[in-house]
Amino acid sequence: MLKEINSIKNQAKKEIEKAKDLKDLDRVFKKYLGKKGQITKVLRSLKDLSKTKRAKTGKAANELKHFLKTEIDQKAQEIESKIKKKAKKEEWVDITLPGKRIEIGHLHPLTQARREVEHIFQLLGFSVIDGPEIESEWYNFDALNIPKDHPARDLWDTLYLKDGKLLRTHTSPNQVRFMEKNQPPLRIIVPGRTFRYEATDASHEVNFYQIEGLMVDRKGKVTIANYKAIIKEFLERFFGKPTKIRLRPSYFPFTVISFEMDVSCPICDEKGCSTCGNSGWVELMGAGMVHPNVFKYSGLNPQKWQGFAFGMGLERLIMVKQRIKDIRFFYNNDIRFLKQF
Ligand code: DAH
Repeated sequence: MLKEINSIKNQAKKEIEKAKDLKDLDRVFKKYLGKKGQITKVLRSLKDLSKTKRAKTGKAANELKHFLKTEIDQKAQEIESKIKKKAKKEEWVDITLPGKRIEIGHLHPLTQARREVEHIFQLLGFSVIDGPEIESEWYNFDALNIPKDHPARDLWDTLYLKDGKLLRTHTSPNQVRFMEKNQPPLRIIVPGRTFRYEATDASHEVNFYQIEGLMVDRKGKVTIANYKAIIKEFLERFFGKPTKIRLRPSYFPFTVISFEMDVSCPICDEKGCSTCGNSGWVELMGAGMVHPNVFKYSGLNPQKWQGFAFGMGLERLIMVKQRIKDIRFFYNNDIRFLKQF
């Protein structure tokens, strides 16, 4: 029996030595010290031995048991420290490396510009008003003095909806909407999305933004002179430089006197460049004195009130300021374009 114990010891030592990982080691443990392990078996068979043999064999078996336990524990520690060392090497982090830059997005150039326009007009005492994108024929046309079957309707290529409503072709309906509910004196701007049934090109989109303006007070108090002063102030703040403006006669059904407003080219200062088509001037908006019928349709007495209105394209404003050649850039979602703002 003692011989057997000795050979178990030698065999077990070899196997412990060879064990590559904790799993191997566990197998060795079970083989010798487990419930059905070889040493356990020896210990169980002690009862069949004679008293003297039992004492000797028992002592040897217990010593071996203790010995193997220590050996296995030691080996386990060795393996664990190897694993840790390896992990340390592999998972090493160079804290001196520069970090990865997380790109932060920003507002769309149209939103940025709209906010800037709103801010400037707010400083000039205007309130910012909102209105619906789906509009009735009444507000989009009739109430703006453009009756059914009048050729002036052709000025706006309109997208009609099945229910008889339409996508607003301009922000002007909000003049009426606002005056129905609010007594002058008033100063408002209405920025918003507008829609036209149009072929797209460098300066036309089916969907674009306008900013409507309206200032009304008692007759005689608000004139074209006020319009010129306010718009000049707005443009100088928006373009960040002194500008000149000029008015050219025009026609809009909802204004009388009507005009187009041009600004001295903020890019070349009237010297002539590609932005202004070498003319030195850039057309920016339509405007005029509010037509008496528009007051009437809004429930106001045209004998009592007077004011100016204007409408400009937001894209156009930015295109002039930033020398952008194509309105479609705003809607292509090309990150190379958007990143520049
Ligand atoms: N609504 C016009 C358009 O879309 C622009 C306009 C012209 C607005 C004259 C006005 C105005 O308020 O007085 O073409």
